[in-house]
Amino acid sequence: MDFDLTAEQREIQTLAREFANAEIEPHASEWDRAHGFPRELLAKLGDLGLMGVCVPEEYGGAGADFVSYVLVLEELSRADAGVGVTVAVHTSACTLPLLQFGTEEQRARFVPPLARGEGVGCFALTEPGAGSDAGALVTRADADGDGWHVSGAKQWITNAAFGGTVLLFARTDAETKSARGVSAFIVDTDQITITRTEEKLGLNSSVTNDIAIDTHIDGDRLIGDQNHGFRIAMATLDGGRIGIAAQAVGIAQAAYDVARRYAKEREAFGHPIADFQAIQHKLANMSMEIDAARLLTLRAAWLKKEGRPHTEAGAKAKLFASEMARRQTSEAIQVLGGYGYTKEFPVERYYRDAKITEIYEGTSEIQRLVIAREILGQRANAPAT
Ligand code: CAA
Repeated sequence: MDFDLTAEQREIQTLAREFANAEIEPHASEWDRAHGFPRELLAKLGDLGLMGVCVPEEYGGAGADFVSYVLVLEELSRADAGVGVTVAVHTSACTLPLLQFGTEEQRARFVPPLARGEGVGCFALTEPGAGSDAGALVTRADADGDGWHVSGAKQWITNAAFGGTVLLFARTDAETKSARGVSAFIVDTDQITITRTEEKLGLNSSVTNDIAIDTHIDGDRLIGDQNHGFRIAMATLDGGRIGIAAQAVGIAQAAYDVARRYAKEREAFGHPIADFQAIQHKLANMSMEIDAARLLTLRAAWLKKEGRPHTEAGAKAKLFASEMARRQTSEAIQVLGGYGYTKEFPVERYYRDAKITEIYEGTSEIQRLVIAREILGQRANAPAT
């Protein structure tokens, strides 16, 4: 067993950390208040290869591995979790499934602009009546000449307003009401209408939209087999959840860094508060839980990189890291006391940002369901163990 990162993984981690420290972290509070970061940031990330970290060079990416990508997400999220989720959804939930499930023609056409950051990727599965029960979706794709007529509405779509490519799931078998009879399509953002921009508790620098669609799309926009798109959605989320785990680790690390620094500087009762056991125990727990979450995350990322099953490992990493981040960002506020509750310090933002990691890409309750199905061998068509 080798716990060291490779030279390439370290190099890309350093690149992302230096960029995040210089170009993201100093603006994160302002972007939180302004509810957005400048679009040019994505161009800069694209120039550095960070919009396509683990996409092969022949498709416009940086050609690094999935572990490197997860390291990048941690660094971006440590600086600004909104930027982290923008890159995570763009990469894990759109670019990578197009690479994995697209035909060679689809890969060559759609992946390079995404990997270079010229367009931004979105994942449109959720609907007003289909969240945790994603298989209840009602957006339809009806055969229409040489293609499809797609109609319906999707909710909470990260990145839709940026412009780019949407991996969209629609029902192609109107008779079936479950997860079966769903297909995956590539849609351009100019084929959808933004119907709402969501106001959120946190993650304010990222953009979250409701969208509507009512348009013809060509037959070559179908990804994978007709009526078997739900498997693509699930496999995509298996990988995406590892990215959200990394995001949660990044947020918690940021909170811990502030709390540790503050504890060494702030004096009470004639001592730095880091001298008091009550504070020491908090910092020790934070450090331990961040380590544990990072190890679970890197293990899951490594399994995916190796092409090995990672459904259970990814769900465990996401579940543990997200609950840890919510707990430990709260503890960071407690270490800072009244200051932690104000906008003078960023820990209140970390606390607000951490909460969503327990909800999107599958709630904690869904992660427990996924883990339970895996360990009990109850997933439909699960590979034999
Ligand atoms: N990999 C590949 N295929 C899988 C799979 C996996 N991990 N898990 C299930 N499948 C396949 C099954 O084999 C089955 O295939 P067939 O139709 O060929 O038989 C099909 O998917 C249906 O599976 P289930 O019967 O298990 O489906 P279900 O209706 O019971 O749902 C669920 C399972 C786990 C609850 C699923 O609905 C789920 O994950 N829900 C949560 C949805 C979610 O995470 N949404 C996140 C939205 S995206 C987001 O948040 C992005 C963002 O903005 C950050």
